Amino acid sequence: MALSIEPLNGALGVEVTGIDLSSSISADNKAALEQALTDHLVMVVRNQNYNPAQFLTAVRHFGHTMEQHLTDLLMDDHPEIAVLDSLDYDIGADGRAIPLGSKDWHTDHTNHAKPPKMTSMYAISLPRAGGDTGFANMHMAYDALPEDEKKKLAALNTINKIEDNAYVSDRDKERFGALQHHPLVRTHPVTGKKGIYIHPGKTAGIEGMEPEESQAFVDRLMAKVIQPEICYRHQWQLGDMVIWDNRAVSHVAYRDYDHKDRRTMYRVILTGDTPY
Ligand SMILES: [Fe+2]
Repeated sequence: MALSIEPLNGALGVEVTGIDLSSSISADNKAALEQALTDHLVMVVRNQNYNPAQFLTAVRHFGHTMEQHLTDLLMDDHPEIAVLDSLDYDIGADGRAIPLGSKDWHTDHTNHAKPPKMTSMYAISLPRAGGDTGFANMHMAYDALPEDEKKKLAALNTINKIEDNAYVSDRDKERFGALQHHPLVRTHPVTGKKGIYIHPGKTAGIEGMEPEESQAFVDRLMAKVIQPEICYRHQWQLGDMVIWDNRAVSHVAYRDYDHKDRRTMYRVILTGDTPY
């Protein structure tokens, strides 16, 4: 079984086959995977077969696990893992499921002073159709802007809150609810590249703007920069582990499936640095 690493498209993402990450891996393979993740920002590792402990071993090849703030979702035996299960979603007044997480393009956990550098998900069960995850290269999003706009954005800071949604418990709001200020244009600590860094659903405002003005600004910005040529859309297969770099990637969960048609993911996040 030889390690194979193939780019998924010209924007971001690699597909990895020929390796089992559930136990130790060679230093050469580890270095090759780290380099691929640095270069391509999203990594899809196919044909894995993990129990929860093995998923943690796999993710820990890339860093240290970090506590997640939706604590009701954490596994009892492995609290580093959140279980995202469409069967657990609340049903709204319209009779439709209210999925957890952001419905928009975002990066994870920006309501932390040191947000996670990476997020990883492992597919446990998948709907018959739909339920893809989209990824966007936010370095490319930034690079495509005119120079004067880059300058304007680089002067801005976002103010980040925990979501107001009903599925966030009062206890979690208390513990993780302090406002955090982050630069809208973030410099990647490994590559030095700049990228747009934002979670619209967690943006309480932009420093110096009124809240409504901020929201309109953020919506306009994201609508403008998220274009097909900077994206990869992942169609999940059982056995997929996907890991991505939150410092440079936005993602979105497509909600085009029947939530009773079960979609279950394990999710782990890895400790990161203070954005600058
Ligand atoms: Fe997310």
